[in-house]
Amino acid sequence: MSQKQLSAHNQTTLPPQEIIDLYKVIFNNELYVNDFDQLMEQVQQVKTDLYNREYIQAFNNEIKRVAYCCRWTPSRTISYASLFSHFPEIVGVITEQTSETNGSKILCVGGGAGAELTAITSIFTPYIHKKEKTEGQNNLEVTLVDIADWNDVVNRIMDQVKSRWLYNKLWEQYQVKFFNHDILDPQIANGMTPYNELNLITLLFTTNELFKEDRAKSIRFLQRLNQECQPGCLLLIVESAGSYSHITVGTKKFPIQFLIDTVLVGTRGQEHKGEWELVSENDSIWYRCAENLDYPIKLENMRFFYRLYRRK
Ligand SMILES: C[S@@+](CC[C@H](N)C(=O)[O-])C[C@H]1O[C@@H](n2cnc3c(N)ncnc32)[C@H](O)[C@@H]1O
Repeated sequence: MSQKQLSAHNQTTLPPQEIIDLYKVIFNNELYVNDFDQLMEQVQQVKTDLYNREYIQAFNNEIKRVAYCCRWTPSRTISYASLFSHFPEIVGVITEQTSETNGSKILCVGGGAGAELTAITSIFTPYIHKKEKTEGQNNLEVTLVDIADWNDVVNRIMDQVKSRWLYNKLWEQYQVKFFNHDILDPQIANGMTPYNELNLITLLFTTNELFKEDRAKSIRFLQRLNQECQPGCLLLIVESAGSYSHITVGTKKFPIQFLIDTVLVGTRGQEHKGEWELVSENDSIWYRCAENLDYPIKLENMRFFYRLYRRK
């Protein structure tokens, strides 16, 4: 039987309270100095947009983006830190020189709000501090691509990461790039690392949005991953458990996941024909935050659906 709960803290990562504390500093003004009620009104606005599946509208200005981060990014980060460290394959990408020349390269699609970035950093930081004392250079590159402009948020996160976590110039071994770009656009963003150099791609709480925007382009995007990703590249897809939208094919309704699996691993019974193999899957796994965490907004427990694929 597959596991039902992720650990509140996996020792591979920085402790959840330390992660939360980083956000308390990053968003100090919004959380502790400015009008808190106003922040919560913005949070409510974003929540309404997301509930109505108005995904683009939810993130269409800086105040709403920051409100989203204050409300959701901290709990998402600690759950993603636990989720990433649950997979030795992903820890391997973050902590080892997976690719032969330049170190590991990760792409987080829809990752502008920073949860994936900080979760990855919470694994990279303790690792690189230990390694610093023993051997030379490591090199991790994290690329975030998002249709909303999260540039300021990413910069605010990285400023604190550099001074509080990756000090002593350890940040020189960590390249973070943000591209304000539509991933469904057939042109990749100018300067973005090509798909064939990536070691890990994450699509966390983003596939539903992509399919809502344009189903045909979303399928083309997955087919592009089929064609261009290198053998060994990992692909992690996460959505809220039970949340997948449905599509109708003929007279039958299927969850989008069915379509994604078909494009990546092949049709049922002929899975071996697909370009990817399924490494791990779970239709419902919980991350429950430890109760004693200190943050001024309620931290949310999460129930995920996930699939981890590896390019053959
Ligand atoms: C629900 S949010 C999830 C954010 C983050 N991955 C997390 O788990 O906290 C979905 C994200 O996908 C982004 N997004 C939606 N459509 C996109 C597209 N076509 N290309 C790139 N990013 C997109 C949104 O702007 C948003 O940041």
